[in-house]
Amino acid sequence: MGDIVIGLDLGTGGVRAIAVDLQGRLVAQAVGSYPLLTPKPGWTEQHPSDWVTVSLTALSTLAQQLESHRIIALGLSGQMHGMVPLDAAGNVIRPAILWNDQRTGKAVEEIEHIIPRQKLIQRTGNPAITGFQLPKLVWLRTEEPQAYAQVQQILLPKDYLGYVLTGESVTEPSDASGIGCLNLAKRQWDTDLLDALQISPNLFPQVIASTAIAGRLKPDIASQIGLPAGLPVIAGGGDNPAAAIGLGISSNNLNRGGLSIGTSGVIFVPCDRPTPDPEGRVHLFCHADGGYHLLGVTLAAGGALRWYRDTFAPKVDFKDLMTLADQSPPGANGVLFLPHLSGERSPYLDPDARGAWANLSLAHTQADLVRAVLEGVALGLREALEIVNAIATVHQLTVTGGGGRSPVWVKILADVLGTELVMPQTEEGAAYGAALLAMVGAGAYADLESVFKLIPGSSARVQPEQNSVYDTALKQHRSLYKALKAIR
Ligand code: XUL
Repeated sequence: MGDIVIGLDLGTGGVRAIAVDLQGRLVAQAVGSYPLLTPKPGWTEQHPSDWVTVSLTALSTLAQQLESHRIIALGLSGQMHGMVPLDAAGNVIRPAILWNDQRTGKAVEEIEHIIPRQKLIQRTGNPAITGFQLPKLVWLRTEEPQAYAQVQQILLPKDYLGYVLTGESVTEPSDASGIGCLNLAKRQWDTDLLDALQISPNLFPQVIASTAIAGRLKPDIASQIGLPAGLPVIAGGGDNPAAAIGLGISSNNLNRGGLSIGTSGVIFVPCDRPTPDPEGRVHLFCHADGGYHLLGVTLAAGGALRWYRDTFAPKVDFKDLMTLADQSPPGANGVLFLPHLSGERSPYLDPDARGAWANLSLAHTQADLVRAVLEGVALGLREALEIVNAIATVHQLTVTGGGGRSPVWVKILADVLGTELVMPQTEEGAAYGAALLAMVGAGAYADLESVFKLIPGSSARVQPEQNSVYDTALKQHRSLYKALKAIR
């Protein structure tokens, strides 16, 4: 039988490992989950040993389904921004602190006190952000000095898994740029910034290309999971850039970006040079294809709808909620909804932002309230897209995630964003992107552009229709955020 690559995505909820043939077809998959630890309000952690156990089990389950195939490489992807601190013997010093952890407010202030925000944005693409890895390290230095004293190396989640699999500690630009100290133009650690913070650049691993070989599968692990010893493990990418690679979103085609409506809403727009938003309201990271990308993240998208359903309509399924929303006209009869149920990232970087409905009257119905939720999420994304478009204009977004499967929400999103939305034929997420990166890493294809030809085309597209109701709603949405900020 033919050659196979494996793509593994180390998510926040669990692991997904898939096997893909060299024509890009899914051959087998295995999943597994692990707990999220919340030891204090605002803290999120995981045991790296759980990641390893569950990943090895998933890989072993996958290997059993692939006995008649030749496996040529394994590509990695994963949740970004997390910190795994290792001691001199390579042991994990404390549980990993994750991307959505909010404990580092003071560390962020400390960093921006030492390095002016403008300089950070210019060099790294972003201001200091609570979820990023660098503030976590500064937090560790202040709050857990005994642990900090033992730290010899800091790894990102997927790179830690790579280290366990191969014994090599490396990273690649798409994930490294989410740490907070990667010089984006050079795609290497910014030693000036690290010197100013009195942090040794040696704590961070070497940065190699996303398609480069991170290391080779150690014989003991290989025999444990039934994969070939010496299998090339490819560096891969952070989950958003890897998912974009899986959809063929490339910095060689600046016309097309991605829109994902999962728990959070993410706008991913490729660009060919590292131009940040001067105010850092959207993120700028390296793409896994050698280019760059802008990223707008609204924290509660599908999450806002789920909250609505769980709180007010627990017996109603999402499909029926969408039908209800469709009974209210564009503009939801004047009802506005702010989706900041868990604080906000783009465009406000405001962990204390909160949600609200406004303009309610006795005449409003449940249909108006649900529609307002869908529109509120779309308007939040529109705010982020405007900032992105001022730097890199995109004309088409490939829409994925649960929200992307609702024609009602997709229509609202297309009209509010004023952008054509395209539905992919299949949606295999970040693990698929990791597998495509592995195809290049293994030398099965010369470059990513050749691999992108394997990705099936779109299944449908939705053109935006201009609707002045949404222009008014956008202005009101902005004013509402400011007004609510004043009463916090
Ligand atoms: C990206 C981000 C998330 C994480 C978790 O900036 O924070 O997408 O990678 O999946």
